[in-house]
Amino acid sequence: MSIPAHLQIAIDGPAASGKTTVAHRLASQLRILYLDTGAMYRALAYLALQTRNEADNEGALLRLLEQHEIRVSSDATAPLGFRIFAGDRELDEAVLQSNEVTAVVSTIAAHPKVREAMVHAQRRIAQEGPVVMAGRDIGTVVLPLAQVKIFLTASVGARVERRRVQLEAAGVDVNEHRLAEEIEERDRLDRSRAVSPLVPAPDAHIVDSSSIGVERVLEEIAAIVERSR
Ligand code: DC
Repeated sequence: MSIPAHLQIAIDGPAASGKTTVAHRLASQLRILYLDTGAMYRALAYLALQTRNEADNEGALLRLLEQHEIRVSSDATAPLGFRIFAGDRELDEAVLQSNEVTAVVSTIAAHPKVREAMVHAQRRIAQEGPVVMAGRDIGTVVLPLAQVKIFLTASVGARVERRRVQLEAAGVDVNEHRLAEEIEERDRLDRSRAVSPLVPAPDAHIVDSSSIGVERVLEEIAAIVERSR
């Protein structure tokens, strides 16, 4: 498939809906840029924890962002599908997905000025070329003109199971009961925040992956991408 120079594919959805796996695979298939924007909010959560800053202190978080740039570079061969740095430290999946980071990231992502800084950086990355970007507000706020918008959902049960597998593979301790609570709490925080809450864009295609595997989801999305051209 020849790819238009400005192709933007937005993949949004709740925690553990499979967005990052699907977005990463799709970008590899199309050989275009991939970015999981959740990793950027997680990188800031990591910095806040390292420097003992409170997740609800927006001013301190903004100062942290000034002092330690969160930098993303495209690298299809990297395990995440891109590389991410907080200051001069490169972050891997075990750090980004740690329970400590997950516990504070939704609070951090609710601050309007933090979001402004992240959205600005995300739009700059999208200017580098055709891109698949995963997150919560990509189709609604970051790339509102994206040619393809997918809102990926799945039942809480399916999402808990997926996240368990993902965390175990990354070497993170898992307690299934806590996992369900954590996912439901993050859904609540992400959906109810005042700025850029998690909602499907009006022109998004809703794809429910509760009972279909990643291959089927990819087929459905590839068909939507094909029809958009
Ligand atoms: O997708 P994830 O679980 O890695 O996202 C981590 C948190 O970051 C999530 O609780 C909500 C927030 N987030 C966001 O608000 N906007 C985005 N574009 C991506 C993530």
